[in-house]
Amino acid sequence: MMNWKRRHLLDLQSLETDEIWAVLETARAFRAVGEREVKKETSLAGKTVVNLFVEPSTRTRISFELAALRMSADVINFSAEASSLRKGETLKDTVRNLEALNADFIILRHGASGAPHFLARFARAHVINAGDGAHEHPTQGLLDAFTVWQRKGRVAGLKVTILGDILYSRVARSNIWALRKLGAEVTLCGPPTLVPKAFEGLGCRVTWNVEDALRGADVVNLLRIQHERQRKTMFPSTGEYASLFGLTSARMALLHPEALIMHPGPINRGVEIESELADSSRSVILEQVTNGLAVRMAVLHLVGGGKPGGPGA
Ligand code: CP
Repeated sequence: MMNWKRRHLLDLQSLETDEIWAVLETARAFRAVGEREVKKETSLAGKTVVNLFVEPSTRTRISFELAALRMSADVINFSAEASSLRKGETLKDTVRNLEALNADFIILRHGASGAPHFLARFARAHVINAGDGAHEHPTQGLLDAFTVWQRKGRVAGLKVTILGDILYSRVARSNIWALRKLGAEVTLCGPPTLVPKAFEGLGCRVTWNVEDALRGADVVNLLRIQHERQRKTMFPSTGEYASLFGLTSARMALLHPEALIMHPGPINRGVEIESELADSSRSVILEQVTNGLAVRMAVLHLVGGGKPGGPGA
């Protein structure tokens, strides 16, 4: 397997295809750790991991915390609301103080695109991007690719449709980079105001016709509307969005018979997806969450200097 050289994980745009595969292969080994009776191993013993989340999160923050605990690290969950960021302390000074307390890993979620890249310019700690503005969410892109690979046995040649708010979605961008590098055919769909034609420049097909986007797809990845990032109204109403672009039972019939339904969460039931479909046998939404733990363990392992292939490789 290739040699992993990166100290940080900032995006998927800059990762080579063999680096993406190294994460996925390593995640497979960590998923096996999660299936053992004793789920603990010791590769980060003595290290300190700080979850520095300046935007809300359920899945990403908790799975990074659990990943670090399972690898025997000490974990600090930094609460932005209760911190001196609220008194005007800068992000740079905050991180310098965390490093003075021997933080070895900073997991950063931030509303500003590029914030993790900024930290990586001066941080001694390993920086992992847990979502920066509308830019990237690399561990989500990796866990989505891992889920497709594990379920379908391959990624190359699969038809993957990403449906929803593409313009404001960091998940969309990280999925596009990973899936295109791994050889999937990616179609983007949603309201024209949220799916600019310019995304064709990333090697994707863009269509605003939901039936066309779903016909024959092997995977549909649904994205919620990122109201928190939109500065103006991008479509008339949530009800109209659900009616024109929501995944319904009728639209499900257009997909490949064994298609996967994916969603990074949080789900808005009845908007981007009919509630029963989210809980159906075709949905891998909770499996994505389980796989996220293995992928985040793999990322901590690799950027921390561990060998590709996982513990014991
Ligand atoms: N998918 C995702 O990033 O979820 P959270 O915002 O809950 O972490």
